[in-house]
Amino acid sequence: MTSTNATPPAALALTDVTLTYPDGDTRLTALDHVSLTVAPAEFTAVVGPSGSGKSTLLAVAATLLTPDGGTVEIAGQDTAALTRAERTRLRRDRIGIVFQQANLIASLTAAEQLEVVGHLRGDRPGAARERARTLLAAVGLDNAKQRRRPHQLSGGERQRVNIARALYAEPAVLLVDEPTSALDHERGAQVLALLAAVTGAHRTGTVLVTHDAALLAGVDRILTMADGRLTGSGLPDQRPPRTSRRASAAAWADATSGTASTA
Ligand SMILES: Nc1ncnc2c1ncn2[C@@H]1O[C@H](COP(=O)(O)OP(=O)(O)OP(=O)(O)O)[C@@H](O)[C@H]1O
Ligand SMILES: [Mg+2]
Repeated sequence: MTSTNATPPAALALTDVTLTYPDGDTRLTALDHVSLTVAPAEFTAVVGPSGSGKSTLLAVAATLLTPDGGTVEIAGQDTAALTRAERTRLRRDRIGIVFQQANLIASLTAAEQLEVVGHLRGDRPGAARERARTLLAAVGLDNAKQRRRPHQLSGGERQRVNIARALYAEPAVLLVDEPTSALDHERGAQVLALLAAVTGAHRTGTVLVTHDAALLAGVDRILTMADGRLTGSGLPDQRPPRTSRRASAAAWADATSGTASTA
């Protein structure tokens, strides 16, 4: 970046993005001139029917799919200019991804799921272990649970490991696809509250995709996707007061202080 202006860049900026998939002899337009800007510490939800393009939107934001047209910027960096290797590094260092299936490695403990990320980033083993411990404690997994393998954890606990792992590298952007679809209402609400706290404390630009508009009390705004277009926006019905959001972010910051910059 060459800007010396004090205004920080958006965590995520999609501008006029179009993405098509091959569909027989023609192409299916999954994203149709979509623009979306998410600021640091902003929690945006995207709702919409099945097949409307929500997961495709996240895949483009994650630089896993390259759009046919338009631009994708992560923390002020235009991703079109990057080589494949640079894109991979950007994903590893700046983008946290949480999908519906926790995608945890069956043979590893919860702590080891995070330590692997540290290993890939070249962190010292001791620092990686400490960061794993801190993040897992902050998402509510005690020492005993940190030593369990995925099949020994509940769905909600697995999703917490998933979120902690996505935070390992202090990402600018957190992309979350249907994290609660395998959970009951109460566990789903807890995961949503955790994501809201994480967004404030780590100042991630968070995009949450869901079918389930009932769980969105903690988000800053709700966008609606239909037929590949982002069609509208609104505020959740029961948004908690800012003070409570700030309090939960502060509690999170306390829980993770000390090791937040060891990576
Ligand atoms: N790899 C692919 N190849 C071809 N078409 C695809 C591919 N992935 C998705 N599509 C199509 O693109 C459209 C958008 O799919 P997408 O998965 O983004 O929807 P979604 O909103 O996430 O749906 P859901 O709520 O069911 O997860 C759909 O019509 C889908 O069939
Ligand atoms: Mg989807």
